[in-house]
Amino acid sequence: MCGIVGYVGREAAIPFLLEGLRRLEYRGYDSAGIATCGPEGLTIDRTVGKLVNLAAKLGESPSDATIGLGHTRWATHGAPVVANAHPHVGGDGEVVLVHNGVIENHVQLKQELAAAGYDFRSATDSEVVAHLIAEGLKRASEAEGADANAPYLDAVRWALSRLRGTYGLAILFRDRPDLLIAARFGSPLVVGVGKGEYFLASDASPLAGRTDRIVYLADHQLATLTPSGFTVHHREQGRISPQIERVKLDELIPSLEGFDHYMLKEIHEQPEAIRNAMRGRLDDQDATAIFGGLNLTPQQLRSVDRIILTGCGTSWHAALVGEYLIEELARIPVEVEYASELRYRNPPIGHNTLVFGITQSGETADTLAAVCETKRKGHRTLAICNVVGSSIAQAADGGIYLHAGQEIGVASTKAFTSHCCVLAMLGLYFGRTRDLSFEAGQQTIEALRSLPMWVQQALQCESRVRAVAQRFADATNFLYLGRRYNFPTALEGALKLKEISYIHAEGYPAAEMKHGPIALVDRHTPSVFLVPRGITYDKVMANMEEVKARGGPIIAIAGHDDPQVEALADEVIQVPEVPEFLQPIVSVVPLQLLAYHVALIRGCDVDRPRNLAKSVTVE
Ligand code: F6R
Repeated sequence: MCGIVGYVGREAAIPFLLEGLRRLEYRGYDSAGIATCGPEGLTIDRTVGKLVNLAAKLGESPSDATIGLGHTRWATHGAPVVANAHPHVGGDGEVVLVHNGVIENHVQLKQELAAAGYDFRSATDSEVVAHLIAEGLKRASEAEGADANAPYLDAVRWALSRLRGTYGLAILFRDRPDLLIAARFGSPLVVGVGKGEYFLASDASPLAGRTDRIVYLADHQLATLTPSGFTVHHREQGRISPQIERVKLDELIPSLEGFDHYMLKEIHEQPEAIRNAMRGRLDDQDATAIFGGLNLTPQQLRSVDRIILTGCGTSWHAALVGEYLIEELARIPVEVEYASELRYRNPPIGHNTLVFGITQSGETADTLAAVCETKRKGHRTLAICNVVGSSIAQAADGGIYLHAGQEIGVASTKAFTSHCCVLAMLGLYFGRTRDLSFEAGQQTIEALRSLPMWVQQALQCESRVRAVAQRFADATNFLYLGRRYNFPTALEGALKLKEISYIHAEGYPAAEMKHGPIALVDRHTPSVFLVPRGITYDKVMANMEEVKARGGPIIAIAGHDDPQVEALADEVIQVPEVPEFLQPIVSVVPLQLLAYHVALIRGCDVDRPRNLAKSVTVE
């Protein structure tokens, strides 16, 4: 899950490449590199760590080459050191490339290429592709033809035919300083069409401000880009005519708008994100929700008898909230499955089962594979997704967009609450075709309409959360405990804390605590209890007593004016008490803020935590 950019045109390539990589840094930031091709030949610069290091290096001797490619890496094969940073060179320097994806048969290919005399300088799987293309060039150059690009395209095609795995590739050739070739299988690539210049990127964000004409390459497609034009080819079927789409990209130019970090900005954007998720989707007349993109006939809709929700990480947590929501509102059995497990589990799925991939990015490799696998077996497969035009959005039979706006912080925040909101509307939608009464539908809509206001009120807890963070920032373990709808909220709170502050945290259903995790409780281990008033309130209070009795500090996320909680907890953070089915969307806000402020106090890089990347496009 690395970021790729490329440029061919009349201007210096490096400014676009650097700015493009900056916008793609969410995809990985272990190392970065750029290759350009000028009259002096191929030049490669690579540095370890975040992009600023590469920018500083390039600033020392700026090049005005008009063709180049760049890469920001999230290490899969080989440690994050310069030798493993992309671009990688093939043969004796006649090929240079960047790669996103995983080459599964790299060990065997490496042995074969090493035996044929190719030198390996890295521990990556990507380097085999560079050497394979160099080998392909030797074979292709024997056949002369009218099309000057043909031998290069053939060499790439030949190399691709030897690969097993996934790739997004951008390739330059020492002897063709005007040609850039791109290839895609399983790792996204888009071509930007400018005037006398062409761009390549892993997603459309680097193109914002440069062009709004985009070609989304599909799997098995290759593109050739030169200053005088571009072509698209299917790997086996030859040249095809590309579909150029006009896409509004200006909103993709990221801006902090006065916030210190994207994560904080995105936490504060949640009332608006939720409003956008609901816009035009609530139907008062029939007390239901409206979704334009599900592509289900009324008959299909009514015959649904089981739903599978699948995703990873935070999106999987949102799916768990969805399970409670849909079962309660629509009485349809719901199963939640990690996408990484679903793709290999091969469960029996009935004719009337709907499968939903839940994903912010729409690029998560496991979710994409699970969606494709269920679709391949003929099941109706839909997506709930934030990024328009993403791979999962394209692969699914239909779906619902979150419209949450770009999420840049690696820790997902507004996508979680937007997913929960969309799943609540989905519960309403299915519910109203079944047992949910008109009145109950109306009450659900009324509650949903108040949701942005409640989230806004929840955000007012920030100064209180900051004080709590100050008190507990040195802890090395946290427990997060909640029941029913707030069990997934507890999981999400724990994930937020561990991913950005590197503190070990576990989320559990509160009642499970006594079956093991209570052994962790001591005076240094804070327990965060989600305890708004509701049907399990007394039970959770009893769990709090158990922790108190063992000397564990208690942070309670509770409703306003709750003297019982005040008496028991060491710290209380108040949130609005709302209908239980919407409580996770409100209660998660202080947990997001707690993770943020603890991470800040500990000096962590909130938006780009170590070892992570925003979009996990490898298995
Ligand atoms: C955690 C986080 C990840 C993602 C997961 C799935 O804050 O962001 O756990 O939720 O990688 O990503 P998407 O939703 O893009 O499929």
